[in-house]
Amino acid sequence: MHPHLSQGASTPPPAAPGSGPAGSGRGPAGDGLNGNGPNGDDRGGDGPGRASSANNGAPRNAEAAPIPEGPIPEGPILEASGVTLVYRDGTRAVDNVSLRLRRGEILGLVGESGSGKSSLARLLLGLARPGAGTVRFEGRDLASADRRARQALRRRAAMIFQDPVASLSPRLRLGSLLREPLRIHGLPLREGWPAALAVLRAVNLPEAILEKYPHQISGGQARRFAIARALVLEPSLVIADEPTAGLDLSVQGEVVNLLTGLRDRLGLALLMVSHNLPVVGAVADRVAVMYLGRLVEAGAAEVVFRTPAHPYTRALLAAVPRLRPGGAEAGPVRDVLPGEVPSPRNPPEGCHFRTRCPIAEEVCRTVPPRHRTGEGVEVLCHKPLVR
Ligand SMILES: Nc1ncnc2c1ncn2[C@@H]1O[C@H](COP(=O)(O)OP(=O)(O)OP(=O)(O)O)[C@@H](O)[C@H]1O
Ligand code: SF4
Ligand SMILES: [Mg+2]
Repeated sequence: MHPHLSQGASTPPPAAPGSGPAGSGRGPAGDGLNGNGPNGDDRGGDGPGRASSANNGAPRNAEAAPIPEGPIPEGPILEASGVTLVYRDGTRAVDNVSLRLRRGEILGLVGESGSGKSSLARLLLGLARPGAGTVRFEGRDLASADRRARQALRRRAAMIFQDPVASLSPRLRLGSLLREPLRIHGLPLREGWPAALAVLRAVNLPEAILEKYPHQISGGQARRFAIARALVLEPSLVIADEPTAGLDLSVQGEVVNLLTGLRDRLGLALLMVSHNLPVVGAVADRVAVMYLGRLVEAGAAEVVFRTPAHPYTRALLAAVPRLRPGGAEAGPVRDVLPGEVPSPRNPPEGCHFRTRCPIAEEVCRTVPPRHRTGEGVEVLCHKPLVR
């Protein structure tokens, strides 16, 4: 149970006419994952870096998997080392990315559309298999864990997908959708349902909404419902892919306050994928910046936002007047990101950013930069703006 969420109500879960018995509807990605399955965003891949379907090894009606015995190891809750994801068509969506997330930490993952953020998110939760590199969750390698251990680990990691409405089966009422994670992980309803209602209240949704179908609720309600559903199993890690996208400013604020409040109260680790730099700047402890599949800069959000070291980060921030390095009056925003983003199927040799970089030199054309560290910030550049 969530120790910090009140659990007074114990209303039985509503029946789901039209949904049939448990298992007849589409599960949350049918994957045993704690969270919502993508619907229509599951194009898959092949070979090394194959992007598996979201039904990633865990059967829909899997019996409860025991939590692996022994204490949860100390150290980062999530650690990716040199992970790569190449889709079947040759798209190199994630290219040798390493990152860590600590307990209770909020990491913002930013970058332009197509930079690989969602692909990396899927890798981090084991929804896609890396062609190279490893992902460790709570110290355990996802690839080498057996099926039961993987399912148990997944119970503690939740994903809130980019499109919350598409992630909800239109044929099921919200009540059925909310209890589905409990069923998939074999938790008795009498134990799990009070906690499910508590998270529903925590996201400010009334119990009456459980009678509705996904198409009968607003985008903001769907986003909040997706968050509640992701939290039903009390995860220690939540990956939220664009949690504020498409929401009114006031609802954006609500969602952000909700997520940060849950981090504060429950100590969960949060990876927030977002285009919204002001939101990330306001809530993230650390920030990681992606460009064409690579992490080009990562470090304390306050340092990266104040003094970006990578020309790409600087350009991204410069496009947002109130985050512009040097202040809002620091100059025009025109041409901060000139040129087209190259194809991730055929990225430039050397530095991926060199075709758009205002300070590129000959070496950038031929020699891939290496990560450099300074002031707790890692930057992938031959000539970082800050050393
Ligand atoms: N299943 C797939 N098969 C082939 N290519 C894919 C697949 N999924 C994503 N891509 C491609 O991989 C690259 C990275 O996509 P991804 O969705 O991870 O980016 P993103 O940073 O999340 O973008 P956005 O901000 O628009 O959500 C893009 O070029 C995209 O077209
Ligand atoms: S390595 Fe060169 S091209 Fe790439 S960001 Fe740094 S200066 Fe620009
Ligand atoms: Mg995305």
